[in-house]
Amino acid sequence: MTRTVAVLVGSLRSQSINHTVAKALAKVAEGRLVFDFVEIGDLPLYNDDLWHDGRGPEPVERMRAQIAAADGVLLVTPEYNRTVPGVLVNALDWGSRPWGQSVWVNKPAGCCGAATGAIGTAAAQLALKAQMVTLGMVVMGHPEFYLKFDPEKFAEDGTVTDESLRGFLKTYADALAAHIERLS
Ligand code: FNR
Repeated sequence: MTRTVAVLVGSLRSQSINHTVAKALAKVAEGRLVFDFVEIGDLPLYNDDLWHDGRGPEPVERMRAQIAAADGVLLVTPEYNRTVPGVLVNALDWGSRPWGQSVWVNKPAGCCGAATGAIGTAAAQLALKAQMVTLGMVVMGHPEFYLKFDPEKFAEDGTVTDESLRGFLKTYADALAAHIERLS
């Protein structure tokens, strides 16, 4: 059965390597997972005053509806100064409120990331996984996915040109699909 994954990428720039990796994962997951990319660049900075009668600004409601409708969540994070970029934390905060109506609770979830540096977002993901658990997501611990990005291994459209890397992405996508299936 095909499952839907709400995908949040913690980078807003057009040439994001994390966006490229997310697109590559979507390709290798075809047939098992459909990736629904969630726009987070138009969310306002979190502010409790912006809730009115339990509803947030339009981009917040759109994001919350997408996540609520998905079978699972995938967070694709860059590493900024050894932690999670603010844009992604902001999205997590919006999804966690109003109190008692968090969209994250019990969601099967994975996180992965790519960096230009050697540790491939390991520090950011350590912080992110702790937050995901706190938010009540059911986080897939293994396999882990830390990537030092090599542009020569990706085509423009996100197709992976390197066999070994494609195998790595497929292993991760298959495990995420199985994780979601087990919990659905
Ligand atoms: C970075 N980068 C970075 N890389 C890393 O491995 N560890 C880090 O702590 C940081 N810190 C950091 C802070 C800030 C503010 C920026 C802009 C960048 C480099 C980062 O890996 C690189 O810019 C990636 O290309 C960011 O991902 P996207 O935007 O290409 O998806």
